[in-house]
Amino acid sequence: MQDNIIPIVYEHPNAAQTSCSTAHTWAKKPREPEAGEKVELIARIKNMLIEQDAVLVAHYYVHPDLQDLAEATGGIVSDSLDMANFGNQHPAKTIAVAGVRFMGETAKILNPEKRVLMPDLDAECSLDLGCPADEFSAFCDAHPERTVVVYANTSAAVKARADWMVTSSIALPVVKHLMAQGKKILWAPDRHLGSYVQEQTGADMLLWQGSCIVHDEYKAQELIELKAKYPLAKVLVHPEAPRAVVKLADVVGSTSQLIKAAQNTDADTFIVATDNGILHKMRILCPHKIFLEAPTAGQGATCTSCSHCPWMAMNGLLNLAEVLERGHNEIHVDPAIIPRAVLPIQRMLDFAREIKLPTRGIGNA
Ligand code: 13P
Ligand code: SF4
Repeated sequence: MQDNIIPIVYEHPNAAQTSCSTAHTWAKKPREPEAGEKVELIARIKNMLIEQDAVLVAHYYVHPDLQDLAEATGGIVSDSLDMANFGNQHPAKTIAVAGVRFMGETAKILNPEKRVLMPDLDAECSLDLGCPADEFSAFCDAHPERTVVVYANTSAAVKARADWMVTSSIALPVVKHLMAQGKKILWAPDRHLGSYVQEQTGADMLLWQGSCIVHDEYKAQELIELKAKYPLAKVLVHPEAPRAVVKLADVVGSTSQLIKAAQNTDADTFIVATDNGILHKMRILCPHKIFLEAPTAGQGATCTSCSHCPWMAMNGLLNLAEVLERGHNEIHVDPAIIPRAVLPIQRMLDFAREIKLPTRGIGNA
């Protein structure tokens, strides 16, 4: 295997959701440009974004250079809900998405007339990979009485089978809203986020048993030990982390909710249980606070992603420049799927507006 290829093992739940087998895939480590090359690349990308009427939409987990560039060029760095919302409202003809494939697909489904580019189309997500559309469809067929709620981290074909799409920012209010209507829920694919929502709301939820390879690695016992060393530290946890880790949190939330918590919580030190790409924004916004990564290694642990998503890490300045230059790596979603897949996404965006969930649309960033 080439030495820039990272082997990845992820969970593939069986159709009955009673057990998981392991499946194998890979990610690619991109080359980091030299300092001088970086300056030249940033200038070139800025020009190409203007020339091509393109906007850069980035996730908090991608390389700090891309996060800064997105903001410096009138784009956005945010969570998956804001990325979808912003790309949908922005007038640019091209959306360059620095993130993982489902984020590019969501942008395309919402804006089929636009060109959606990604630095690397092989940037996957273990939740998406662990929930193949045909198996998911059979699961839905077996439970026709349930309202189907899927996480954003799924393929276009899985979204086309859903009634609602949610992200971690809005999962709780959507499930509460459905519960108030007496609905029973079929949830996919993240079992940890699903059981957190179930516990918080008391909803009747049947869960797909997928997981995120990054968040699954946080270790409760080692977190307890780190807390003991920093007794005044507050613990910020993404709900894709295992239950035992979520139970130790002071704040549980999406990436943007955790950043807000870091800003608004009266503490000097934080232990952060989510991809370490987020620390860039936290440190910019709170320069006098200390942010520690939650432990992923410990007794018996085999840390492979070690707090950084290997697929998010596939996005870089070099491949972004190349994609804009050559116009390749365009996201295509089967046009036959789009009219159905857009419904659960649009329903979520409309609901976010209805409940006035704070999102960073154009003009209120
Ligand atoms: P957020 O929507 O909280 O940014 O999460 C996306 C994601 O992939 C987390 O692993
Ligand atoms: Fe998927 Fe986990 Fe990577 Fe987020 S961090 S994109 S959930 S694999």
